[in-house]
Amino acid sequence: MRIIVTSDLHFHIPWHDTLKAFAKQLEALEADLFIIAGDLGEPLEMFNLCLKTFSRVSDHRAALAGNHDVWHRAGPNSSRDLWDTYLSRAAQKFDYHWLDERALVVGGLGIAGSIAWYDYSGGHPDVNLHGDEYEQVKPMISNDGNYIDWGWSDREFAALVGEELEERLQMLSERDDVTDILVVTHVPLFDGTQRYEEDGSNRIIANAYYANLTLGQRVLTYPKVRMAVSGHVHVERQLSVSRNGSAPLPVYTNPSDYGNPAALLIDTETWAVQVVRSSGSA
Ligand SMILES: [Fe+2]
Ligand SMILES: [Fe+2]
Repeated sequence: MRIIVTSDLHFHIPWHDTLKAFAKQLEALEADLFIIAGDLGEPLEMFNLCLKTFSRVSDHRAALAGNHDVWHRAGPNSSRDLWDTYLSRAAQKFDYHWLDERALVVGGLGIAGSIAWYDYSGGHPDVNLHGDEYEQVKPMISNDGNYIDWGWSDREFAALVGEELEERLQMLSERDDVTDILVVTHVPLFDGTQRYEEDGSNRIIANAYYANLTLGQRVLTYPKVRMAVSGHVHVERQLSVSRNGSAPLPVYTNPSDYGNPAALLIDTETWAVQVVRSSGSA
């Protein structure tokens, strides 16, 4: 089976032509399954346009939310309403399976997805901030601190969606007809995927908002997990994470950036991964 995973399309009118051309480019690959791993667009109208524009890439489609998709800044909907109701409803409208709600099984492959959320475990070791301090400085570093108005703290929401992902992993692990599991998240789960890991500036504070290593450690305990793919960081990372009793886990991030989309083409026969970059606007 050939699966395209993209993310971080950040649908925005000035990039409409580029994104439409990228959708055509992906359509030509005739993949068996197409997954959008968050940051489709905001406000909700742009989220919808993104789903619609890419709805011909494959007959079988799935999606999950990213942090930008729950921003309330430019629309009438609260982050909580977007998360609880409107994003999944939009996905349903354009016939995308909503991975933040339930797992997907195709053939012998289980797909466990989640927005995932940072819990500061990915913070840079040189930054001397902890727990609540990361929450307090966030509005200066990340607009998640300005445009998300639900009542959860980052660590509360990370724990909540982490538990839900584990329930899906558990369910898929117990199914005899599922031989392999692909984990797809918006926020990455493994060390080395953070964006500013080698940057000497103040921006290294942002590392804390780029990963959830706690959840990554949990994912490693499910031997059927064959690969983990994420978005959010907008840069290409390829890692191999060692684990007890199983082969190392291949981990990828998708390098889509604002107005410069990309995707990963995964062949589940060989588990080879090819990075597909936008070849330009229409
Ligand atoms: Fe993004
Ligand atoms: Fe993101």
